[in-house]
Amino acid sequence: MANHIQAIRGMHDVLPEQAPLWQYAETIIREVLGAYGYSEIRTPIVEKTELFKRSIGEVTDIVEKEMYTFDDRNGDSLTLRPEGTAGCLRACLEHGLLANQTHRLWYYGPMYRHERPQKGRYRQFFQLGVETYGMAGPDIDAELILIMHRMWQRLGIRDKVRLEINSLGTIAERSAYRESLVTYFKAHTDQLDADSLRRLETNPLRILDTKNPDMKAVVGGAPVLMDYLGESSRAHFAGFRKILDDLGVAYEINVRLVRGLDYYCNTVFEWVTDELGSQGTVCAGGRYDGLIEQLGGKASHAVGFAMGIERVLALVETLTDVPVARPVDAYLIRVGEQAERAGIRIAELLRSEVPQLKLQVHCGGGSFKSQFKKADKSGAEFAIILGDDEVSRGEIAIKPLRSGNEAESAQSSLGEQQAVAFFRQRYGKV
Ligand code: HAM
Repeated sequence: MANHIQAIRGMHDVLPEQAPLWQYAETIIREVLGAYGYSEIRTPIVEKTELFKRSIGEVTDIVEKEMYTFDDRNGDSLTLRPEGTAGCLRACLEHGLLANQTHRLWYYGPMYRHERPQKGRYRQFFQLGVETYGMAGPDIDAELILIMHRMWQRLGIRDKVRLEINSLGTIAERSAYRESLVTYFKAHTDQLDADSLRRLETNPLRILDTKNPDMKAVVGGAPVLMDYLGESSRAHFAGFRKILDDLGVAYEINVRLVRGLDYYCNTVFEWVTDELGSQGTVCAGGRYDGLIEQLGGKASHAVGFAMGIERVLALVETLTDVPVARPVDAYLIRVGEQAERAGIRIAELLRSEVPQLKLQVHCGGGSFKSQFKKADKSGAEFAIILGDDEVSRGEIAIKPLRSGNEAESAQSSLGEQQAVAFFRQRYGKV
């Protein structure tokens, strides 16, 4: 067998037949973000390693085990971004965007984590991320939930995901809680696995996130962070919940929800599904006010989320009747020397007059029969047929390729301007 070079494990190609589904979802996502007045930001895929260590936290799975880190030719340690929050904030600080200003931003692109690949978990995956700055909330926290809620509705997957929320309080509240948690777990070390024993020293809150079923009982009996929140954190969380209640957005409070990145405070949330096996978190985020100062900025406010596009698409794929766009509307068949020349000219005319029309011109010659086969395979709705006879009569034949529309099922012969009008009427609307 030929020695083909394969893609890197956990990194996937999106093939032409899959691309329309991606584009369909991406279009909806962009429309919803536009409806809320959010602006796009694009940042590099590679950042200094230090940025992720300082923001995500040294003692997190991502930084400890999952980053693609390398030295570049200058000996600087660089990392392929494992997420977008750190880079987005870095860019805003670097360009002075945060001084007494509010921002509502989004980004879209590949992220990299060296995790064990399985269904729904990849080493390169796409995230749509949204970050807002300068707003103390909780109205902005709730606005983010409404954005996600609207995206699920528009994508037709609202009933496949459910919302879990929690509050992590302030850093001070969390450190008081952390002490009680350590005391509790130290009294139960016989029930902790090796990973949790290590986390007890480094990041005890993450023990609550364990997937080990043997630890369910010990985690179930642990103190609850919600009981350690002060008045202002409680009011923030209550305000957040009230907006969701007012608008009828259902949620569950999950007091064990702590998230795997260190930068959060107050509101955290995850949208989860039961339809994707163990990789059930489709979208997640929360508030991270403290990170701005941690990265050298002036104290302000930040809240955001990121959704895993492959997981969202896996849910959309379970639906029947997803209206993905066809890649080709019309396929131009041309047989004979005159027709070949006229065909290219007419195709260019149609593209100028009807810019929305997706028109493929047959290349490479062949009989009417073989060209018709190609036209059919292209998925086009119409064949535009040119033989030398048509050219000498100044006519263009148009034949519908898909049945269904009786009125259009017959082949018609039109002049050039009539053909332009024919396609403009069908495809010319923006
Ligand atoms: P995260 O929970 O690490 O948060 O990732 C967000 C989403 O990205 C997950 O819920 C999941 O859908 C998707 N995801 C994560 N890892 C993988 C993977 N290996 N394969 C496929 N999908 C994956 C963040 O990244 C934060 N930056 C979110 C945020 C933004 N918080 C505030 N602003």
